[in-house]
Amino acid sequence: MSQGSGLILAVESSCDETAVAVVRDGRRIVTSVVASQVALHSATGGIVPEVAARAHLRWMIPVLEQARVESGITDWSDLEAVAVTEGPGLAGSLLVGITMAKTLCWLHDLPLVPVNHLEGHIYAAWLLDPEEDDRPAPEFPVVALVVSGGHTFLVEMADHLRYRLLGQTVDDAAGEAFDKVGRLLGLPYPGGPAIMHAAASATSHDRIFPRAWLPDTFDFSFSGLKTAARREVARELGIDVQRMGSGGQDLPESSVSELAYGFQDSVVDVLTTKTIRAAEESGARTIVVGGGVAANIVLRGRIETDAAARGIRVVVPRPGLCTDNAAMIGAAGFFRARAGTRAGFDLAAKPSLKLAVPERD
Ligand code: KG4
Ligand code: ZN
Repeated sequence: MSQGSGLILAVESSCDETAVAVVRDGRRIVTSVVASQVALHSATGGIVPEVAARAHLRWMIPVLEQARVESGITDWSDLEAVAVTEGPGLAGSLLVGITMAKTLCWLHDLPLVPVNHLEGHIYAAWLLDPEEDDRPAPEFPVVALVVSGGHTFLVEMADHLRYRLLGQTVDDAAGEAFDKVGRLLGLPYPGGPAIMHAAASATSHDRIFPRAWLPDTFDFSFSGLKTAARREVARELGIDVQRMGSGGQDLPESSVSELAYGFQDSVVDVLTTKTIRAAEESGARTIVVGGGVAANIVLRGRIETDAAARGIRVVVPRPGLCTDNAAMIGAAGFFRARAGTRAGFDLAAKPSLKLAVPERD
């Protein structure tokens, strides 16, 4: 294990946030700057890859400069390495961050450390805010649930950087389901937070959505929920489901809240039940939850309550660290750097990079 200053500068641009952070020893955030493109993409109700890549180009250098000033780094040799998301994500978006990281490494003669974005979402659980009191790091074995806009899976970690895939979605990611159902209900993009807020004002909780249990597996399926939501909306409007548009339906506010509640309840129920079962079966000491959907207050509460009842510790980062950021890449990047992971200047974007592949019996 090579030692260094422990200071990692991290760059993240895999999707629609341009982010640069400086993290110490894989835990303490020195600074974390995120420029969000949400406003830009809400006009189109989703991400247009070319628009996202151009926005990264526009914001990468100002974000880097802000992170440099805020972290007080005057001498680049104070850094141990530069970590960057190599994938998965949008090719054009990834390329901007990778090119920035390579340029910094070339200019300042620093090691380049590639990080898997999904690994970053898991390592967000290790992070401490600048002024936050110290607390113990997650203890292994860890079971991690990653629920983002593009991915939904459960992995077991016996130790740092070791992942065994327990189960994954067979169709839509949880965040994708939130976004699609949000659109169907006429809610603004992104659907996740909009559904969470709408659900909070539901006064009736009797719209029950189906649960795809996929018994005896830790796999998930969310595409049926979308169909169920469509059917409910069509019924509400008194029209044939085949003739209904794909989004922006004009429903009364009370129906939107009730449907949002029923949908969210189903997603939270399945995610929590499977995560707890996975943790129990693998004897996990800690459950870690990451990815944008982990910002959901109902999901956080349910996993915390159910795990506490079984004496399992849960670490869910604060919402701003569940959604995309570079601090999480800095945390994972530190452990990767210390494990000797390095990339050359031929590092390429890997849009479909996997974290772990299913094991065969
Ligand atoms: O991890 P993330 O920021 O980007 C990806 O790597 O995909 O996740 C974005 C996803 C979106 O689908 C968004 O709707 C969802 O996370 N999300 C939420 C909440 N906040 C963001 N889903 C449910 N409840 C939330 N509060
Ligand atoms: Zn993400």
